[in-house]
Formats: sequence, C-alpha cells, structure tokens
Amino acid sequence: MNDIQQEIARLSEEINRHNYYYYMLDDPKISDYDFDQLLQRLIDLERQYPEYVLPDSPTQRVGGTITKQFESARHLYPMLSLGNTYSEADLLEFDTRVRSLLNGPVEYVCELKYDGVAISLIYEQGVLTRAVTRGDGTRGDVVTANVKTIGSVPLRLQGDYPDLLEARGEIIMPYDSFNNLNAEREDVGDQPFANPRNAASGSLKLQNSADVAKRGLSFKLYYALGENLPENNHYARLRKLHEWGFRFPDVMEKVPDLNGVYGFIHAWDEKRKQLPYPIDGIVIKVNDFSQQQQVGSTAKSPRWAIAYKFKAERVSTQLLSVDFQVGRTGIITPVANLRPVSLAGTVVKRATLNNRDFIRDMDIREQDSLFVEKGGEIIPKIVGVDMEHRMPGALPVAFVTNCPVCGTPLQQHEGEAGVFCPNELHCAPQIRGKLEHFIARKAMNIDSLGEGKIEVLYAQGLVRNAADLYDLTYDRLFGLEKVIEDENGKTKTLSFKEKTVANILNGLEQSKTVPFERVLYAIGIRFVGEVTAKKLARRFKNIDTLANATQEELVEVEDVGERVAQSIIQYFNNTENLEMVMRLKSAGLRFETGEEQQSDSQRLQGMSIVVSGVFSIPRDDIKAMIERNGGKNVSSISKNTTYVLAGEKMGPEKRKKAESLGIPIISEEDFKEMIGTERV
Ligand code: IVH
Repeated sequence: MNDIQQEIARLSEEINRHNYYYYMLDDPKISDYDFDQLLQRLIDLERQYPEYVLPDSPTQRVGGTITKQFESARHLYPMLSLGNTYSEADLLEFDTRVRSLLNGPVEYVCELKYDGVAISLIYEQGVLTRAVTRGDGTRGDVVTANVKTIGSVPLRLQGDYPDLLEARGEIIMPYDSFNNLNAEREDVGDQPFANPRNAASGSLKLQNSADVAKRGLSFKLYYALGENLPENNHYARLRKLHEWGFRFPDVMEKVPDLNGVYGFIHAWDEKRKQLPYPIDGIVIKVNDFSQQQQVGSTAKSPRWAIAYKFKAERVSTQLLSVDFQVGRTGIITPVANLRPVSLAGTVVKRATLNNRDFIRDMDIREQDSLFVEKGGEIIPKIVGVDMEHRMPGALPVAFVTNCPVCGTPLQQHEGEAGVFCPNELHCAPQIRGKLEHFIARKAMNIDSLGEGKIEVLYAQGLVRNAADLYDLTYDRLFGLEKVIEDENGKTKTLSFKEKTVANILNGLEQSKTVPFERVLYAIGIRFVGEVTAKKLARRFKNIDTLANATQEELVEVEDVGERVAQSIIQYFNNTENLEMVMRLKSAGLRFETGEEQQSDSQRLQGMSIVVSGVFSIPRDDIKAMIERNGGKNVSSISKNTTYVLAGEKMGPEKRKKAESLGIPIISEEDFKEMIGTERV
C-alpha cells in the first residue's frame, strides 16, 4: 500500500466510524464541520486517484452514481409477506394455532410495522454488495447505489460477522423529510407524494443517487438470513446484527404470552402518534427459531408471524358540494367538498368520490353526512353514508353530462366505470397530460422539463402539443415566470433562469437520440403502452408503415387486439396527429428503428447469462448484444445461469460461485464466436 492508499483507507475508516457514532448510536463525537472537512478531503483524494476508492467508501453516502435502468435480481430466499389482521379475536386465533402446533408455551416478539418499502441487503465478506427491492417476492430491482446513500444502512460490518449475510428491513421516509420534500415539490409546481410510503418508493427509483441522498430516507432492520448464523432466537439475532453495525430497532419487546401482545398493541395504538415516522401496525413473531420452524410457513407467508393493523379512524361530516375534475386522460373524477373535520391528526376538507358508479352504488344524496376514514394512508377515504343525518327528500348527487373544462358531452366506454371527455386534443388538462406523458422517463425522458414547467409553458400559450416543444428557443423561454399559490394563500414565483433554460434545450436536443420504440410510446396512442410500442416498432420498422397498416396486419402483432388496432388506426386517421408526427420528424426525432434495435439472431434463445469483469467494449454493449441475440442478462449466478461471460478482473466471489455450481465460464472471444463474429 502506498501513502495515498493508506491515507484513503485511514480517512474512509475514520469517516465510517463517525457515521456509526452518528447514525447507529445517536452519539456524534465530532462537529458537523469537522466531519465535512474529513469527507471533503476524502472526496478530493478519490477524485484524483479513482483506482484506490474502497468498496465501502463513505463518499457513496453523498451519491452521484447514475443508474439508467435498474437490473433485476433473484432473491437468495423469497421475500414473503405477512398475514394481516385487524382484530384481537384474530390474534387469539393466531396464538391458539401457534400453541397447538407447539404443544406448549411460546414467547413472542412485538415490533412496529414500518410503513415503507421492503429491502434486502446482501453483505459479502462484511461489505454491502447489493440492495434489492421486494419486487414480486422472487425477483426485485437492484438499487444498491441509491441504498448506499442511506445513513442508517451500514456499508461495512464490524466484529465477527459471517461471510454472507442478508439483512432485511424497511426503507422509510420520516415525516419531517416527507413534509420538506412535498413542500419543495409544491414550490416548483410538482405533484406532491400522497404518503411517505410512496415517497420512499419513488425515491429508491431515482436515477441519480445524489438525489436520493437528499431525500432523508432511513432503514429499519427487522430480519436476518444466512447459513449458520449465531443465536437461536430472533431477538438475540437482531442484537447480534447490532454488534455487527446495524441499529437495533427503536421499539421491540419480548412478551411471554398473548396478554403481553395485547398490552403492546394498546400502548402503541396511542404512542404511534408521537413517532417521527409512519407505521401501519404491529408485527408479532414467535421468538425461538426452532419453534418458528415447527410452526412453518405457507408459500406466501410465515405461520409464525402476523401483522396486526391499526383500525382506521372514522368520522362523519357533511357533504357541502361536489367538484368534477378532468384528469390527464380525460377521465372525470368527482371530488367531495366536506365540512372541515379533524381526523387522525389533520383537517379533512375534501375527499374523492372516485366515479359515477361510486356515487350511485353508495346512493350519496345532496347534503348527506358521509363517513370518512383514514388508515395508514394520509389520504382520507369515503366509506359510507351516515343515514341518521339524511335530509328528507334529498336528491341524488347529479353527475355532470358535459366536460367542466371544455364543455364537450361526456362519454363512457362499455363495461368501464370511468366517464370521460373525448376531446383529447383540445381539452386543457388532457393536452397537459399528453405533454407530461411525452416527457416522462419511460418515454422521451426529458427530465429537465417537469409537470410544473409544462404547466408554465402551457399557460403562456407556448406549447399545445409535443411538436411545439421543439420550436422553443432560448429567447422564448428565458424569463418566463409563474406565480404559485399554496393552500394558505402564500405565493412564490417560479422563474426560468439561464441554467433552467439551457437544461431544457439540452434535454430536448438529447431526446432526438431516443429510439423509435420509445418515441412511438411517447406520442400517446391510446392503449399503446411501452411493451406494445416495442413490438409495433419491431414489426413495422418505421412510422409510415405503421400508419398505413391495416387492421389485419396490426392484429398479427402479439398483444395487439382489435381494440388496440382500432385505436392505432384512429390515431393516424386524425390530421392533427399526422401533422404533429410530421413536425416531430422534421425536428429530428427518430421514427424508424436503427441497426441496434433489430434482433441479430436467436442463437442465445433461452439462455441466461451473467456478465462480469471488464471487456474490450463497454459492458452495456455486451449486454445489448446478448439481448439482440435472444439471450437474457441476469445479475447474479444461480443454478439456472447458462453461462458466466467473464472479462478481465472478474470478481473472485463470482468465479467461486460459478465454479461451485458448475456453470461454464466463457471469455469474450468464446462469446463472439457463439453469436457470429461478423456482428461484433
Ligand atoms: S417481518 C418473513 N417485520 O411488512 C417475515 N415485516 O406484509 C417477513 N414490514 O414485506 C416480514 N415492518 O416489508 C416484518 N417489523 C417488521 C415489519 C415488516 C414492516 C413489512 C415488510 C413486509 C410486509 C409484510
């Protein structure tokens, strides 16, 4: 180790230690200023000598890694869910069943049920190597760089940790962070998150980990897995994980019987109101591992644990009037204006009435009193009519027949509950909706424009459809302003300064390289989602062939049924759509498939390939080749892996694993031969 390496190692260790004091022990030993000095020194050194950056470098907390697309990975052990109950009678049943299976007394552990997003953290040789979301329980998304920014997630373990450890827990967003985030979003005209869980989940999927670092997320440990882990009960194991560097749960209690469980849930039904983060219930687990095993699990959830969910709070309040909102797709949503009432900590004034059927099925009449409930959600729900307060002769709430924005008579598709405004090209909220869809990440991915900015551009009359975006110039954008008013009548001005304008123009320019399949998705043909767009692009290769395709030709494409085919035909029958497409084409957007999107061969059909190490060309290009030849990229080696494609400096752990499972390891040369070198 040379001097620089030593200094980097020393600084990393020192900063990690201070992080531990701060996040795990709540006991900082140096000032924030001194800490920042240390961190800055390390950042500078790492920037100069990137080859010496350590895998557990604390600079990863600051983020900066960009993840274009989250890979998916199979969980080492499936991530089960929990059986839910809302009543003490169900808990009695749970306890009776557990005890009858065990033939004896049982000790339970009571924990909080954190209301966030489940995460699996893999530690190899004590270093956090992978963080995967729950996904469908079998496979989830790999969000490692983002999770590494979360202070309460240890990057490296300490003490006598095992070679391989999987820690599970919940990523949550404390109320403080949630409120700050939403206030910021509203300031710039972005839609606020409905609740801390959605905010946590959205944050984990951000592409730039530096943005995640700012979201104030936190990790709550609740479970550990691995082979031959020490301790024979859940409580002691979490203590052990605490020794290895995790925070021990803020609240966790061993109780000797069901009465203890009841005591815990009663206490926390009240005390939860003071917690700084959201919980939606209590989790009760059999403490002893051998007893857990005896009780067993079903395919979906363990029988040795259960979640007790808090009952939603409910009040009755009077319906004052109904507003009708027009959504981005033209769907009309009725919203109840209610006599303000306090419910579970906030004042409720409005709540959605969902759709016409909802009003009819609940038989909601004018001036009725409605029951409003709030569960774990921040959003209140209308759950019924309080008949005791119905006025004699009250008339049913009438649904509008014309669009409240543009006046067009409303329509309803057969078999669907939603009533919609069919004027999709000229009704303001629908125009904005189409523009928002166009710039979305999965479409043109113009993230320098957002909902707020689109609104400004629309309000100023600068854009009416996607093609108008490409006519925007520096002079038209610079200095645009919008005054935003919040609920309390406070106003703020959002203005387009130099940097904003440059970013917008740059984002638009970059979007011209977006492949045809995504452009096709972006132009917003009703019922043509991401996957259908991809299939249509592959089949028709360019927009002209698609626009001229007949119903018969269209339905030949997988997933395209009559309804979708009709919608495509209608889209291209409309001259305004055709004109927009033409303008987008002359702006330089891609309206035909390029070389790279066509499939080369099916030589790797059915194969799952893990790519590891450094190659003569970028790794992403290798991965794209695999897909173009019919193969599938997977990120971790399992018995189902067909090949491991190894470049230089392949990780020793991966090699070991491949060898132990007998998975063939092939070189870049082998691979090129396999798919036919002419393509490389
Ligand atoms: S234990 C096999 N403990 O609730 C045991 N889960 O429906 C698995 N959750 O997906 C879970 N707090 O995301 C456990 N203290 C806690 C929890 C908890 C929240 C979540 C978890 C899981 C879901 C179960």
